Amino acid sequence: MLIFKPYRFPLNAVFLFTCFLILGCKYDNEEDLYPDNSCITIDMSYSNDISPILQNYNCISCHNTVNPQGGVNLEGYNKTKVWVDNSRLTKSINHSGASPMPKDQAKMDTCDIKKIESWISDGARNN
Ligand code: HEC
Repeated sequence: MLIFKPYRFPLNAVFLFTCFLILGCKYDNEEDLYPDNSCITIDMSYSNDISPILQNYNCISCHNTVNPQGGVNLEGYNKTKVWVDNSRLTKSINHSGASPMPKDQAKMDTCDIKKIESWISDGARNN
């Protein structure tokens, strides 16, 4: 048994090195690997999905009841629905309207845009 001891460390080192190598080379860009499965957009809920997205991109910081920039209030379902119904929300987040949103920033994540669009095409329910 003793005779194998000196080899333990190098073998472990080789094993670990191989693990790191494999991990390092792993191609794990989800959107590229699973273009259809990575973004779940079915059955979107206003309160669980859409409202948090609008919060995350600071839409509400600029578009709230106290200070609705550009006259746009996105605080709560009823106010948001106005901008859904006049199509300006969809245009703004796709950067296809006069006012690309979020203002002075890159487009939202494609998956988040898809989620909002799916919620809208399902009738933009207060769910
Ligand atoms: C830094 C402040 C700020 C942020 C953040 C922001 N907006 Fe705006 N938004 C504005 C201003 C100001 C306007 C008025 C038009 C302009 O100045 O571009 C506006 C206009 C709009 C409009 C009206 C567009 C039109 O066609 O009339 C919509 C809809 C809108 N924003 C949605 C959003 C959404 C959705 C987000 C988050 C993804 C967002 N905004 C983030 C400041 C902001």
